[in-house]
Amino acid sequence: MIGLALHISLATTKDLRAIYQIETLSYPDPWPREVFIMDYLFNSNSRYYVVKFLNKIIGFFGIWIEPEKVHIINIAVHPDYRRRGVGRKMIEFVIKLATKKRKKEVYLEVRETNIAGQELYKQLEFEFSGIIPDYYSDGESGLIMRKVLNDHSWD
Ligand SMILES: CC(C)(COP(=O)(O)OP(=O)(O)OC[C@H]1O[C@@H](n2cnc3c(N)ncnc32)[C@H](O)[C@@H]1OP(=O)(O)O)[C@@H](O)C(=O)NCCC(=O)NCCS
Repeated sequence: MIGLALHISLATTKDLRAIYQIETLSYPDPWPREVFIMDYLFNSNSRYYVVKFLNKIIGFFGIWIEPEKVHIINIAVHPDYRRRGVGRKMIEFVIKLATKKRKKEVYLEVRETNIAGQELYKQLEFEFSGIIPDYYSDGESGLIMRKVLNDHSWD
């Protein structure tokens, strides 16, 4: 039901505060605020999107558009709105965008212990494709998950 009323749009500078609030509610080791701002303002390959429900920002994601791939660098849903299909909607949006741009794959890193994230990506047919030891600041490994795209990835 919430799916019908969700609106995904490119983030504006005004949205950065809400994005950062969701970031801090979502991770034990949130990105420093400056990292967001620098990436948002100065990385021409990065795009940030927000998801709104009744005009309130309830989730966001950031991607880097690489020559052949789209890299999901961050994605989070406000804790009050989880498990209602918002994360799925965001990943579907990225798959559609990457397919339109004729990219070969969408990929991301996820903590070994992040079962919610892994289950979400598996539901959308991402597969494990590698492990990066010590990827996170607390020493946890990152699992690389990717979805290879073809012309039929979004019919
Ligand atoms: C991961 C996250 C983005 C998922 O967002 P969400 O809106 O709750 O996910 P959805 O409701 O779209 O769930 C889609 C599917 O993902 C899986 N899933 C989501 N949360 C789950 C959980 N807590 N446990 C197990 N599976 C889960 C389920 O398969 C679910 O389908 P179902 O509800 O029909 O069973 C959200 O939990 C979050 O923001 N976590 C903190 C930040 C984070 O870990 N981001 C990912 C970093 S790689």
